[in-house]
Amino acid sequence: MVGFCGMLGISAGMKAVFQLIRKISRSNSNVLIQGESGTGKELVARAIHDLSPRADSPFVPVNCAAIPRELLESELFGYVKGAFTGAISDRLGRVEMADGGGLFLDEIGEMDALLQVKILRLIQDRTVEPLGWRQAPKKIDIRIICATNRDLEAAVQAGEFREDLFFRLNVVPVQLPPLRQRPEDIPCLVDYFIRRQNELRPDFPVTGISPEALQLLQAYSWPGNVRELENIIERIMVMKTGNVILPADLPEKIVAVDSVAGKEKKTSRFASAVIPAEGLSLKTEVSKLEKELIVQALHQSKGVKERAARLLKMNRTTLIEKMKRNRINADMLNEP
Ligand SMILES: Nc1ncnc2c1ncn2[C@@H]1O[C@H](COP(=O)(O)OP(=O)(O)OP(=O)(O)O)[C@@H](O)[C@H]1O
Ligand SMILES: [Mg+2]
Repeated sequence: MVGFCGMLGISAGMKAVFQLIRKISRSNSNVLIQGESGTGKELVARAIHDLSPRADSPFVPVNCAAIPRELLESELFGYVKGAFTGAISDRLGRVEMADGGGLFLDEIGEMDALLQVKILRLIQDRTVEPLGWRQAPKKIDIRIICATNRDLEAAVQAGEFREDLFFRLNVVPVQLPPLRQRPEDIPCLVDYFIRRQNELRPDFPVTGISPEALQLLQAYSWPGNVRELENIIERIMVMKTGNVILPADLPEKIVAVDSVAGKEKKTSRFASAVIPAEGLSLKTEVSKLEKELIVQALHQSKGVKERAARLLKMNRTTLIEKMKRNRINADMLNEP
């Protein structure tokens, strides 16, 4: 599996999330994952389970927003034959299916008041009673992981979510940063999505993305976060015939950003580099920048090394040497 349990990210924000996941996967506490739509909440929930001592037991997801209210209760708690008209046989609920493992309550913010009470009881008593159950409640051993893209604290303030349940669920909070706050994650995500698409469509491989196009992606605000990026790369690669993603391939909304705020960003891009709390390797950063500028120069000079060398104020042999060292192939920069 690539990255951290299938998650990529080099930003300080994502590194902190990975570290937190490692720590909390060892405990049995309830976890509440919050973050905008498409930030990777489901991936985080799975990672916590997969790294936990419960990894070999079931991980049962329930999307509280996707299941109609009147079905959600029986879906979660199950029922016995004859509990209501139509209950022609016993049915195991998802809570019981998760016994010994983890229950993932996705979009918990959409759960109605009555079910919130039932979940609270489940957490407090660690027991479950299917609809129509007439015996002693069944003991259950589950770890509850929840996710929401709503601001649950605000929902509590507004009286739409029970405060006692919020505190019970929010023992360990995980906050996922939106993609616009971590543009440094975009290059590796783009690379990953390109590789994945290439595997699906080996006949029309894309070798990479031009520095200009990448810069535009990094300047965009990504309201749909990583999912939006993933979809855009897929759409480009389905439509594309060339082998490098160029600004012209990008959707209008992304290119439009550049015409206003992006110009400034372009010139100040390298000056705005930040040193994360854990420090960085100057050597690595400088060689990354060197590679990026060489690729950009080659691109601007349409692969003509003589011209690229002049742009970078070095002689041709030095450029060729540096291209070799950085494994840059001028041919891959050209459109066919
Ligand atoms: N760090 C990451 N690395 C690789 N892929 C990611 C990353 N974050 C998210 N994705 C991908 O983006 C998509 C959205 O992720 P996910 O479904 O986990 O988001 P979500 O926060 O649950 O979104 P929603 O609130 O809409 O349910 C998925 O296809 C997922 O694989
Ligand atoms: Mg989700």
